Amino acid sequence: MSRLCGGIFTSHVPGIGGAIAKGLQQDPYWKPFFDGFDPVHKWLAAEKPDVAVVFYNDHGLNFFLDKMPTFAIGAAPEYRHEDEGWGIAFERPYPGSPDLSWHIIGQVVESEFDPVMCQSMLVDHAVAVPFELCWPGDAPFTTKLVPIAINTVQHPLPSPKRCFELGKAVGRAIESFDSDEKVVVFGTGGLSHQLEGERAGHINVDYDKFCLRNLAPDPEALLQHDTLDIVELAGSQGVEILNWIAARGAMRGSVRELSSNYHVPISNTAAATVLLENRTTVSA
Ligand code: DHB
Ligand code: FE
Repeated sequence: MSRLCGGIFTSHVPGIGGAIAKGLQQDPYWKPFFDGFDPVHKWLAAEKPDVAVVFYNDHGLNFFLDKMPTFAIGAAPEYRHEDEGWGIAFERPYPGSPDLSWHIIGQVVESEFDPVMCQSMLVDHAVAVPFELCWPGDAPFTTKLVPIAINTVQHPLPSPKRCFELGKAVGRAIESFDSDEKVVVFGTGGLSHQLEGERAGHINVDYDKFCLRNLAPDPEALLQHDTLDIVELAGSQGVEILNWIAARGAMRGSVRELSSNYHVPISNTAAATVLLENRTTVSA
């Protein structure tokens, strides 16, 4: 069976793509954020995961407000990034893993979720920026992608509990997939930020630290706030923490934090990067 070896949780601010393009990783503004990826690079080099199952939110590229699925799962042989207007260009294609995608889709439907199934899908900065951060350079990506989009944009949004349960169903599916592949899960976006309106620039360090403190040992603590509470606490885009909650739900083994980095601000966002190891305790 395939094995879920860990989780990577990171902000996906598009400006990071611009900083990469300009080679600003050592610039004083960016360095505290990029330094958070040193342990992630070492871990990825050692673990070499075959597939990344990425919980993220589409920001209007593949799904617009007129047709917005609550949950959508990609099942394409390959994905491409397109720029929704941020001025970032990522050329490397993302190889898909249709067999694992269809297995996940089948299993989550059996668990009474009803995702949109996407045999073609564009991915936006919420997938592209984390992939660039994890595997910098020009070499073709060798880690395959299964994208899972959660609506954090068009209300009503799903509840934290529903996202956590989706993650659990995806985790069970990964662990029942007949292959010897290693899988890493991603939760992208967050932490607190709000890009528009009277509260533009809103950041809530206390709530962010609460999430960071509980993510590994007690993720269910993050379920005590409902979705609109999270909008209030973390900002209208801080609710992207739903992607982190889903990814953490997928990790069903013994989970340990390997690294955590928090830096305020990057652009308008409280930026964070967390690496969790997932050790499977029970062998099937
Ligand atoms: C920013 C953050 C986001 O999560 C996003 O999707 C777009 C922009 C920002 O802080 O600039
Ligand atoms: Fe975002």
